[in-house]
Amino acid sequence: MFYHVKDLQYNAKVSRPDPRFASLLLEQFGGANGELAAALRYFGQSFAAKNPYPDKYDLLMDIATEEFSHLEIVGATIQMLTTGINGQLKDAVENAEIMQLLKGKGAKEDMIHNSINREFLVASAGGPAFTNAEGAAWTASYINGDMQGDLTSDLRSDVAAETRAKMVYEYLIQFTDDPSVKDTLRFLMTREIAHFQMFQAALDSIQPNFPMGILQGDPKYSNLYFNFSNGNDYRGPWNEGPSSELGETYQYIDDPIKHVMETNALLNQKIEGTERTEKSVDKKNKEMSKKRSTEVNSATPTTNIQWNNNPQANKPAAGKKSSAPDKKPGNKNLKK
Ligand SMILES: [Fe+2]
Repeated sequence: MFYHVKDLQYNAKVSRPDPRFASLLLEQFGGANGELAAALRYFGQSFAAKNPYPDKYDLLMDIATEEFSHLEIVGATIQMLTTGINGQLKDAVENAEIMQLLKGKGAKEDMIHNSINREFLVASAGGPAFTNAEGAAWTASYINGDMQGDLTSDLRSDVAAETRAKMVYEYLIQFTDDPSVKDTLRFLMTREIAHFQMFQAALDSIQPNFPMGILQGDPKYSNLYFNFSNGNDYRGPWNEGPSSELGETYQYIDDPIKHVMETNALLNQKIEGTERTEKSVDKKNKEMSKKRSTEVNSATPTTNIQWNNNPQANKPAAGKKSSAPDKKPGNKNLKK
């Protein structure tokens, strides 16, 4: 359930209209890393998260709702920055001089061709539209890949998405000299930094979380570094010493062509730099399958299914029998 409060989360202000900057700011309204994308990404991910991770469902819904609040701030700021356009366009009979808005900053030609999003002039009359700064329509393709129904994957997408959104605000701040607008953008940028850490902490609280999903990687290939170029080769923690997550020792293959020939195209590759074996991997795959499927199945009833778990939701209506799910939902319904 959503409930709208008419005040913005942050009291956004602008010093004066600036339709040029409003055009750039559209990037955070309907762009690939904008607030609509963020809100819908976390909203979409939350459904699969609810069982068995009600705590992560809570986090995803809270942040999704905050991102909708940020979308509202960006939309309101765009509307304030284009103040005058709508009123001028309504003055259709008098053939309004919309160039007045720029107050000598540029010619009308410049306004139409270079300065501002043309949607403002002929489609939305200054209001925000779900496009990026170039006018390309928002698309679910920006985010559908981020909803994989597995939090060890989804939360990593979220950390990356917050990183990108932070950078867009950082770039945008450099294109306005309005202190009020800078102030709002700094708030929005800062919230991306906050969200980054929340998603990272949520990921860290799910153990084990690497590799993502269930199936373990083949120990023959998990620590090989192929030197697929010659000259100016670099060594670093990405190709020498222990690997960051599995703690295996990197095997540096200096001459990949020779190595591929000698190993019958890697089919005869030996396991090196790790304690893992085919047998231990097989065991871990079975353990992880059981662990994760039991987590989901035992948290998900298969009869009398309802979404709400507020104590009030389980109270029978007067004179009726309860239709609430069993107290320990799903345990006895678990398919063997
Ligand atoms: Fe965010």
